[in-house]
Amino acid sequence: MKIGIDKLGFFTPDLYVDMAELARTRHEDPNKYLIGIGQAKMAVIPPTQDVVTMAANAAQRILTVDDKEQLDLVIFATESGIDNSKAAAVYVARLLGLKSNIRAFEVKQACYGATAGLQLARDHVALFPRSKVLVIGADIARYGLKTPGEPTQGGGAVALLVSADPQILALDKQSAYQTQDIMDFWRPLGQTEAMVDGKYSSNIYLEFLDHVWQDYQQKTGLKLEDLAAVLFHLPYTKLGLKGIRQLTTGAEPALTLRLTKEFEHARTFNRLVGNLYTGSLYLSLLSLLQQSEQLIAGDRLGLFSYGSGAEAEFYSGILQPDFKAGLMGVDYSQLLANRQQVSVDKYEHLFKQQLFHAATEELDYSNDPARFVLAGVKEYQRQYLEH
Ligand code: CAA
Repeated sequence: MKIGIDKLGFFTPDLYVDMAELARTRHEDPNKYLIGIGQAKMAVIPPTQDVVTMAANAAQRILTVDDKEQLDLVIFATESGIDNSKAAAVYVARLLGLKSNIRAFEVKQACYGATAGLQLARDHVALFPRSKVLVIGADIARYGLKTPGEPTQGGGAVALLVSADPQILALDKQSAYQTQDIMDFWRPLGQTEAMVDGKYSSNIYLEFLDHVWQDYQQKTGLKLEDLAAVLFHLPYTKLGLKGIRQLTTGAEPALTLRLTKEFEHARTFNRLVGNLYTGSLYLSLLSLLQQSEQLIAGDRLGLFSYGSGAEAEFYSGILQPDFKAGLMGVDYSQLLANRQQVSVDKYEHLFKQQLFHAATEELDYSNDPARFVLAGVKEYQRQYLEH
């Protein structure tokens, strides 16, 4: 039985800051951000959006009434959770109008969480082939204003519908994974910004890539030439470029050219959004599916998932005949092009407005065009609504 990603939806708020402008304000050469880090625009998250609203906004783009009927599991992967106890999945299930006889919970392992969710979803469908699973990866990447990590912030949510006979990608059974207790990036309880050893984290990412890639080849007998494209977790797109260069070292020039071209398609949207932690790899998949003109049904894609702390997995899947239909006709290039640019001042203002510790506060959501918004907090209870 084929099991995998049937539909894929994405949401990021309608605001962004231009990276060249941010670089100039920070007294950096714009090419450091544009080329050295590989980011052109960065999503700005208004206080009226959080991981719950972004997830609901992404999922509503793909779910039909029939999907909702067949869904019996919601797995919400995030490292920007809004509660230490209650799962974001429970709020999302209510906002989406899902039935109550479902399982809904949250998982966490840095940027690897959504991949853990996807693999769990696959196992669930293997046992119950008629059921469908909603896997969400939603995050707001925050390192702080004027920090080295600042140009690698961003945010958004991806929603993956996992089912038997999927429209987009049928997952291969074998994959390779690795976990090691490493302090490259973490966020202690009570802190609203991540702590990171930036250079170390980038080096560990590439080391883990090497390890799981070797292991994947050994387990599956597949080689680089068997892959039509390789997708990466993209905390900043230059790191994925280093990844593809590492994998293609010593490869035939034609193969290197082909994989590098597909990588450029796969990083297009991530360059315009920034890091969204758990959702980043799946935004890159979306970007490849909408940008590439070479991909055909039957092509095998390799996917490298990395979560600091640290855990990585290299897995693969086969593109299915209706893979474009699984995006539900949404033109994400257009959506990203239609966003509104904000000044660096406005971005800094919005960055400080996020509701983390407020007991009671009302938010003005009249300027937020998203369907689901955060209207404020009452006695520490987040007030979500559809408008
Ligand atoms: N023109 C072109 N390139 C330039 C340039 C210019 N004018 N000026 C500098 N550069 C290049 C540098 O040569 C460098 O390239 P290489 O990496 O190829 O050497 C690149 O721009 C970055 O310059 P610096 O190394 O000087 O940048 P920095 O010290 O300010 O920090 C960073 C960069 C480490 C990525 C920092 O932004 C950071 O800490 N980010 C957060 C951590 C992160 O994303 N880690 C990734 C792995 S962890 C993970 O994957 C989980 C997750 O999502 C967080």
